[in-house]
Amino acid sequence: MSVSGHLFLTCLLFSAIHASPLMKDAVVVDDDFKVEVSTDGTYSISIKNQTWLPNAHTFFRADGFPFSTADDTLVLKGASRKSGSDKLGGWTSMDFEYSAGQYIIIARVKEYTQSNLGDFVIFEQHYKEGALMTGTFNHNEVISSFPSFYITDNVPDLGFLSYGGIMVGDTDKMIGRWQKGQAMPNSGIDGGPLCIFNENRDAVVISPFNQFMAGSVWHDRLTTDSVNWGIMGRVGRVPADFVYQTVVFYSAQGINKAFEGWGKLLRTYHDKDQKMREADFTLNYLGYWTDGGAFYYYNTEKNKNYEQTILDVRAEVEKNKIPYRYVQYDSYWYYKGIGKGVKTWEPMPDIFPNGLQFLYNMTGWPAGAHNRFWASDTTYAKQNGGQFDFIVEILKAVPMSEDFWDHLFSNARKWGLILYEQDWLNDEFNGMNALLTNISVGRDWLMLMGRSARKNGITIMYCMSYSREALQSLEIPAVTMARSSNDYSPGNDNWRIGISSILADAIGLAPFKDTFWSTTNQPGNSYNKSEPNPGLHLTVATLSTAAVGPGDSVTGMNVSLIETCCDADGRILKPTKPAMAIDAQIIQSALGGAVGPVGEVWTTYSNIQNFYFGIVLAAAISNTFPLRPSDTTFADKLQDGKVYTSQSWMSLTDFNESKPITIKGCSAQHYCLYYIAPVLMSSPEVVLLGEVPAKVVPVSPQRFTQISIDTDVTLTLTGGVKENVTVWYSVSGTSKSHTCQLGTTGEATLTLLGGICRPN
Ligand SMILES: *[C@@H]1O[C@H](CO)[C@@H](O)[C@H](O)[C@H]1NC(C)=O
Ligand SMILES: *[C@@H]1O[C@H](CO)[C@@H](O)[C@H](O)[C@H]1NC(C)=O
Ligand SMILES: *[C@@H]1O[C@H](CO)[C@@H](O)[C@H](O)[C@H]1NC(C)=O
Ligand SMILES: *[C@@H]1O[C@H](CO)[C@@H](O)[C@H](O)[C@H]1NC(C)=O
Ligand SMILES: *[C@@H]1O[C@H](CO)[C@@H](O)[C@H](O)[C@H]1NC(C)=O
Ligand SMILES: *[C@@H]1O[C@H](CO)[C@@H](O)[C@H](O)[C@H]1NC(C)=O
Ligand SMILES: *[C@@H]1O[C@H](CO)[C@@H](O)[C@H](O)[C@H]1NC(C)=O
Repeated sequence: MSVSGHLFLTCLLFSAIHASPLMKDAVVVDDDFKVEVSTDGTYSISIKNQTWLPNAHTFFRADGFPFSTADDTLVLKGASRKSGSDKLGGWTSMDFEYSAGQYIIIARVKEYTQSNLGDFVIFEQHYKEGALMTGTFNHNEVISSFPSFYITDNVPDLGFLSYGGIMVGDTDKMIGRWQKGQAMPNSGIDGGPLCIFNENRDAVVISPFNQFMAGSVWHDRLTTDSVNWGIMGRVGRVPADFVYQTVVFYSAQGINKAFEGWGKLLRTYHDKDQKMREADFTLNYLGYWTDGGAFYYYNTEKNKNYEQTILDVRAEVEKNKIPYRYVQYDSYWYYKGIGKGVKTWEPMPDIFPNGLQFLYNMTGWPAGAHNRFWASDTTYAKQNGGQFDFIVEILKAVPMSEDFWDHLFSNARKWGLILYEQDWLNDEFNGMNALLTNISVGRDWLMLMGRSARKNGITIMYCMSYSREALQSLEIPAVTMARSSNDYSPGNDNWRIGISSILADAIGLAPFKDTFWSTTNQPGNSYNKSEPNPGLHLTVATLSTAAVGPGDSVTGMNVSLIETCCDADGRILKPTKPAMAIDAQIIQSALGGAVGPVGEVWTTYSNIQNFYFGIVLAAAISNTFPLRPSDTTFADKLQDGKVYTSQSWMSLTDFNESKPITIKGCSAQHYCLYYIAPVLMSSPEVVLLGEVPAKVVPVSPQRFTQISIDTDVTLTLTGGVKENVTVWYSVSGTSKSHTCQLGTTGEATLTLLGGICRPN
């Protein structure tokens, strides 16, 4: 190792708890999260004095050569302290100046001294002059590595959760022991954020922090058993001043809190505000879906075309007064070209002979519409005689201009497009050389789409997204929702979104579980299948905060089940956050033992003016698990309350740290839903139970818009015009109800002790 004589001989200590000075004369160990950095270029991350992550080699490929600290071909020219500030606040850093042959590359470890965004450190790769001939032949490797950590067995009983595959890293996610010599964590193009944790609530999340489409994680299993964060493997040229960042985020409050804090940091850094998510019509209202798994996916009514079929659905919905508010059209309607990519995103006449505007006029339904990867013969590309800039390769193409999207979206608005579903994000990305080898094309593609959508008042749903694409949406406010499990097919378990929801929600996306059937048997379906658990699918969809989109046949709509999601206007009565798998579920599946539920236990809550109402969903459970308030994702918000269910709300039981809920016997068909309500007034004791058993979420902020307490408890109820709302509540241990008819403005106030309903 060549170290110049001018280097600092001290060590650098980043301490999470105190805003510590960067340089210290010695490593003083008394903080939970410590990043020790030495002037010789070594570093490590310790949690409570245990080194979880010792550094492996730093390397940068350039001029066709892997310059690495492993063999001293990467030369450390100097180390220095720097400081500065950006939108996260003031930072200080240790900068290592490396020469990779003729190129200077700075590797920086950066700490924010006064951050209120939690305990984290940023690793930066700064290509001052850029670099040429950087690529390997393997897109699943990386061309650069900083940070790079050995997987060690030094700390016993560490578990990990590694997102990977598609659907926001759901399909190939891995959970297990953090151990040497294993095929983990996820690695390469479809890798994703990594969380390492123990049973004592320490949890570290590591992920890219910027340039999400260009970054990758590579597990070098064969030579060093190290995990390396850097730029993806086939990128051949890095431009001057390119900066690639990785974040390491720590929480002492467990896995869910670590992801929540990590996500908030990323959303802050990339200005991902939640306004478009909150306002998204498809996240707020019930919709009718025709995508994979739905009855009318590549299937119409006998001897009718798609247009007639949709009109029949509309008529049936009208007849039964099901408050569907929009419709989703899947990939069957537009023109395909080479390799079944999209050629022209216009309706084919045998599908919709009168066009989409006609249907919009006839149904009154705005639309969500599917799209896939672009075929190389797409008619929009200049190369094919069209008007717009595309990169065109043998099979696929990718649009490279905002004008193109403006053209597409402004046109589509005329037929009611409100939600653009970009599907096949994985195939588009890994099917094109330009996307795999060019450092900027991937980000440009998604940014142009997103900017135009925002301009045109359209929101975007991602489907089949790699983690990189889901993370890229941090820079794209128009992306509000992402599919978070594989495609629905009647009877399958794509309702298991409790773990992917943690990642999706952290980065600001509503986790969508996909369409489902509301009735078990639907004769004439093209799958030859049935759905044994319609209630569970509807419950999961409602608790997800994403779209609720049944896809039944005309005769298969279970009106009384569908109505449990929503008010009379079709507005989804949902919790404040998506339901998410509790830490104990993940720890149990990583480390075994008897620490948590074997199966799915997810929790969430409704926040109404800081009154918190808890919800617990348990399904497919094979053991008995006592759930305490501290196990839930509302642990810091609701420590005790009264438990009830939609089978038993006449007598309430206590829920507190010494009085857990005993979870057992909850299958997928007989899933368990527990509700926990706070005591609103103690004398007499008043508890709001809400719309039980009428709604999946009996107390939702959409329905109960205000709670005020003086000598009585007064509720403001919101819903459809003249809607009847039956509200249950308990006074001194006795459960009662009051049915209140809302006024012509869809509002009423209800006093619980006085028993007075005043419509507005
Ligand atoms: C870490 O080590 C320091 C110094 O030895 C000690 O003061 C501190 O209590 C230790 N922290 C933990 C969590 O063990
Ligand atoms: C749909 O309705 C609009 C507004 O009334 C009208 O201008 C348009 O021609 C109609 N389109 C079709 C295809 O019926
Ligand atoms: C990457 O793509 C951009 C935009 O198309 C282009 O300007 C740039 O030259 C490309 N870089 C390389 C290395 O091909
Ligand atoms: C449909 O499924 C049933 C039961 O699984 C099976 O017996 C039958 O052969 C299937 N029919 C077709 C057409 O595949
Ligand atoms: C409709 O759903 C309700 C509530 O889950 C259920 O009790 C009923 O049996 C269902 N009806 C049909 C026809 O499936
Ligand atoms: C918890 O609930 C039990 C059972 O009702 C009760 O006896 C106990 O006092 C409660 N504990 C606390 C801390 O509220
Ligand atoms: C609501 O309740 C009122 C008063 O009981 C009743 O007249 C009306 O029919 C109900 N409306 C519906 C939609 O059930």
